[in-house]
Amino acid sequence: EEGGDYYLVDQEMVSGALPLRLPTQHKGDFGHVVVIGGTRGYTGAAALASNAALRGGAGLVTAVIPEQLYPVAAVKLTEAMTYPASGSKGGGFSSTCRASIQQVLEKATVLAVGPGFGQEEETAGFLEDLLLNTSIPLVLDADALNILTRRKHLLTDASLAEQRRQWVLTPHPGEMARLCGVSISEIQADRLGYAAQASREWGVVVVLKGARTIITGPEGPLFINPTGNPGLASGGTGDVLAGLIASFRAQGLAAEEAAYSGAFIHGLAADQIALKKGTIGMIAGDLLKEIPVVIENLI
Ligand code: APR
Ligand code: MG
Repeated sequence: EEGGDYYLVDQEMVSGALPLRLPTQHKGDFGHVVVIGGTRGYTGAAALASNAALRGGAGLVTAVIPEQLYPVAAVKLTEAMTYPASGSKGGGFSSTCRASIQQVLEKATVLAVGPGFGQEEETAGFLEDLLLNTSIPLVLDADALNILTRRKHLLTDASLAEQRRQWVLTPHPGEMARLCGVSISEIQADRLGYAAQASREWGVVVVLKGARTIITGPEGPLFINPTGNPGLASGGTGDVLAGLIASFRAQGLAAEEAAYSGAFIHGLAADQIALKKGTIGMIAGDLLKEIPVVIENLI
């Protein structure tokens, strides 16, 4: 490990990790993903993550949306359920929201927090309250990561170490730079090193996104994902990844397995679309329909 050993994620690893479906199984067997996000201007992010969780095979998905925006999300989402978080004055989440969503949290197998989440101070209070009071596996993305940057103790306090073993963080290089307190170019110059260090220090699984996404857990090893292409460089594709990782987590994959399987399948979906339609103008929503086909070809 000290020598910088890493492995490429491959088809065998991913097909070995994916769950097989038995003829008699029902939706209760495939987990319940709860996506928390979708503030003003970003309801699409929560919708993409929710639909990705369904396309990855989760049995049930609920999107928790600030109550002011709840009708917008409810119109966008058909198969996913929607649930209003109340208590915030503006259109975002606030620390009083947790009580209002307690009922949903009790049913969740995994939470995906961050897509279109916002990063106001009261939203940070909500996230902190949530993280301090749940042992549900988490995928933390986007604004949830920006909040963690400002509330670093959540990543370092020993009292949360046990819960953090169940967390997957999915930073893009900008989010990683903020989390690590360095520049983006420093991250990009040593992606393996920063991913390994962050994962070890915080005791979480880290998915450092961008071309050749790095995946690693606190005990190593480092994985590099070879799939994906510049067609993914458009808004919303990261939200799809967060939903997909949460989906696999809900279906029983370990944090690290869900992370590398999600990254591999997400990239492969983009590669399949590129073969048919090229990379220019590929949008996050295009990935959704391709994901089941990619999974079918892997298992
Ligand atoms: N090759 C392979 N994969 C790529 C490439 C590339 N050239 N470019 C991007 N990707 C992949 C990344 O690995 C990642 O999985 O596309 C995804 C992009 O994710 P994000 O950077 O999170 O982008 P986005 O979905 O737009 O994020 C939505 O959340 O993180 C915030 O600031 C972000 O407001 C934005 C929002
Ligand atoms: Mg993102």
